[in-house]
Amino acid sequence: MKALVLSGGAGTRLRPITHTSAKQLVPVANKPVLFYGLESIAAAGITEVGIIVGDTAREIREAVGDGSRFGLDVTYIPQEAPLGLAHAVLIAREFLGEDDFVMYLGDNFIVGGITDLVEEFRASRPDAQILLTKVPDPRAFGVAELDVDGRVARLEEKPADPRSDLALVGVYLFTPAIHAAVRAVKPSGRGELEITHALQWLIDARATVKSTVISGYWKDTGNVADMLEVNRSVLELIDPLDEGSVDARTEIIGRVRIGRGAAVRGSRIVGPAVIGAGTVVENSYIGPSTSIADNCRVTDSEIEYSIVLSGSSLHGVGRVEASLIGRDVEITPAPHIPAAHRLVLGDHSKVQISA
Ligand code: TTP
Repeated sequence: MKALVLSGGAGTRLRPITHTSAKQLVPVANKPVLFYGLESIAAAGITEVGIIVGDTAREIREAVGDGSRFGLDVTYIPQEAPLGLAHAVLIAREFLGEDDFVMYLGDNFIVGGITDLVEEFRASRPDAQILLTKVPDPRAFGVAELDVDGRVARLEEKPADPRSDLALVGVYLFTPAIHAAVRAVKPSGRGELEITHALQWLIDARATVKSTVISGYWKDTGNVADMLEVNRSVLELIDPLDEGSVDARTEIIGRVRIGRGAAVRGSRIVGPAVIGAGTVVENSYIGPSTSIADNCRVTDSEIEYSIVLSGSSLHGVGRVEASLIGRDVEITPAPHIPAAHRLVLGDHSKVQISA
């Protein structure tokens, strides 16, 4: 069995972060979200992995390399444009050969991994197997309708009027039966070859498409709110570790991981939180559900429920919450007179100012 990991795409919902970097590499508890997926593929006993890459190919290659770090053998498959999930299967035809495979969306996060699912698929081997989860508002997802035996009867992509609350999760299990389906479907209204259409084609051809409803935690990290929520849930599970230096004036409460060479002085950190290697925290408050990456500086500031990427600094800023801050960003207070905000923001930045 092989794995096909999708790490192309445009990532419009995570702009401006995705103007300069791949959304699959945004860190969750200071580790790229893609790495969690690769680790669960390795844990399921799969070693041959094809990674679909787009405009951010160079960055993904630099981060993942040949995959040996994960116990994987990685082949990169360039996709000229994000033409859809079924398009990714189409261009991976040579790599996939006649093997069964798991398709994993590189920005999805599944707590508990995929080992049980892969085993279940291997044992019963339907033509395809999808994962579903109940969501409050299914209109933004692929939605499945099941028949009385729990088999998938119908699939719709982002329906205006959903027939169930079961949304497709970003992991799919396929036999080579999917190849005829992805060749048969035509681009959708948004110009993509949709995997839901390919699955519907299989259902119409009387193939068996099984579904498993997962109760465990799943998130598509496509937007900032979901990213912060995944970060929170992963931080809940971290083991405390102090590889840096913490002075006597600092108070550490709960599970906090402090990276090598990090220095914390005169501060209060309430976990769960991670502080990256080489980061300095001084006279500051770091609140729960916060990940500060490597080589950051946080001085005379307060931050909580946020993700800060490497090389960024916060100096003298009151309270930052529910924020995703990119790399090498500087946040400082404006002078008191004139009382004005001074902003240098990249394209598609979003700022909420409280004063
Ligand atoms: P999406 O989140 O559906 O699409 P996107 O990355 O273009 O993001 P946005 O909606 O914010 O613009 O993609 C799911 C995953 O699959 C993601 O990791 C990107 C990847 N992908 C590809 O590799 N090729 C594709 O053609 C598409 C559509 C997505």
